[in-house]
Amino acid sequence: MSHHDERTFVMAKPDAVQRGLTGEIVTRLEERGLKLVGAKFMQIDQKLAEQHYGEHADKPFFDELVEFITSGPVMAMVWQGADATRQVRQMMGATDPADAAPGTIRGDYGLDLGQNIIHGSDHEDEGANEREIELFFDEDELVEYERSDEPWVY
Ligand code: TYD
Ligand code: MG
Repeated sequence: MSHHDERTFVMAKPDAVQRGLTGEIVTRLEERGLKLVGAKFMQIDQKLAEQHYGEHADKPFFDELVEFITSGPVMAMVWQGADATRQVRQMMGATDPADAAPGTIRGDYGLDLGQNIIHGSDHEDEGANEREIELFFDEDELVEYERSDEPWVY
């Protein structure tokens, strides 16, 4: 991992899997130049959901959020690259897809605040990326390899 590289946690939420948007999400991040270093197609259980969204435990939408994220399989991923956490957040767009700019993932595919297609670690929450990666992945499930970042590749 070069000095400016960073890893971030990303998840295609149950609505993305149901709608067949998992590949689209992967493609967008790949084509941007980010490197996939871990992926797990999985069903989130109640406990993991409550841990992952622990910061929202007191919010009125918490129960609905946990119910949604456990409603079907997700694709949990770790992506690596320069300033990856912030870059992914920019590509995701605003939390409410109705406010997300066209060209962003939420802005292109979503309309509903609850079912907003993608999760990415919050770049304004120091260390959230590493905490979330640790919650979903063992270190030996993350793969170290070289991927060319020469512009002619994509
Ligand atoms: P949050 O961490 O604020 O957004 P983001 O996913 O952009 O980091 O909230 C987590 C999820 O909770 C969000 O993706 C959708 C859901 N949510 C609601 O259902 N209602 C709300 O009012 C908010 C703020 C979020
Ligand atoms: Mg968040």
